[in-house]
Amino acid sequence: MRKEVILITGANGEIGHGLISFLAQNSSTPILALDIQPLDEAMTKLCSRFILGDIMDQMLLGRLVGEYEITTIYHLASILSTKAEYNPETAHRINVEGTLNLLRMAVEQSQWQNNPVKFIYPSSIAAYGFPTVSEKMAAGKVNEDQWCFPTTMYGCNKLYCEHLGRYYSRHYKQLASGDTYENHVDFRCLRFPGLISAFTTPTGGTSDYGPEMLHHAAAGEDYKCFVRPDTILPFMVMPDAVKSLVLLENATRESLTQLVYNVTSFSPTAQDFHNYVLKAFPNANITFVPDKKRQAIVDSWPADLDDSAARADWMWSPDFDEAESFNNYLIPVIRERYK
Ligand code: SER
Repeated sequence: MRKEVILITGANGEIGHGLISFLAQNSSTPILALDIQPLDEAMTKLCSRFILGDIMDQMLLGRLVGEYEITTIYHLASILSTKAEYNPETAHRINVEGTLNLLRMAVEQSQWQNNPVKFIYPSSIAAYGFPTVSEKMAAGKVNEDQWCFPTTMYGCNKLYCEHLGRYYSRHYKQLASGDTYENHVDFRCLRFPGLISAFTTPTGGTSDYGPEMLHHAAAGEDYKCFVRPDTILPFMVMPDAVKSLVLLENATRESLTQLVYNVTSFSPTAQDFHNYVLKAFPNANITFVPDKKRQAIVDSWPADLDDSAARADWMWSPDFDEAESFNNYLIPVIRERYK
């Protein structure tokens, strides 16, 4: 008998940490964690098994199909937007071919199980792209179908993988004879805003100035913010990101009217971040030294997201608004962490 598990790729990343901690407490299905980096010991204890391995390793994925009955895949592994620009083709391979490998694995699992495997995929605000700041500001909240003209390799990869997910869940091998592929993958996708965790810092993203400002201030380190003070982006704290992933996973298939859903909570400027940080850490030394190229990326992302479809279809709402996020989650937890 193959063992039933939830598979989490990119398990050692920021979302992985939040998701593993939550699922270990709230789900009875064992967690199979995969990452190319060693998993933090505290997280490993919460998983049934950790595999140090690459999503590009098809032999490894094949072996997992033989060994496990994977009911849900949270495919979190990805190269983020800033890092991807240093080597776009490598990022493309990992972000797109890696996702393709996982989707193919999900198809195989779905056939074996005679049941669609759920494939939960975090996409991003990077899937959007505004040509100018004035158009960004004029647009305000954007819905899932507007302004999808990404300017980064990461954004292109995310947008394309959303389409791949739709293909695998609705049209895979549509000309094959018989009904071999009737148990399609059950692909569900969230477009995340910038995420902020009190426990981890992101690596290689472009929304990183928010979390970095906070963590540096708490650690007593100077910080040069790489965007202008008036820069605005949507954000959400990690507990809400995890909440949205799990809510979407648990939603009935009938309740979902689309495959890709925006989720968000609040849209602070970099100056707002600065104000919250200074209130909590009055000695923090933060200066604004905009980096032209990273600024351009952030300027191409929306100021706010319209998440009304998620609210209507699967009762999404964040637990933490702006004040709650800073006052009742980020500041107290980070303060404790760096004490
Ligand atoms: N946080 C991501 C990044 O900055 C966006 O999804 O790349």
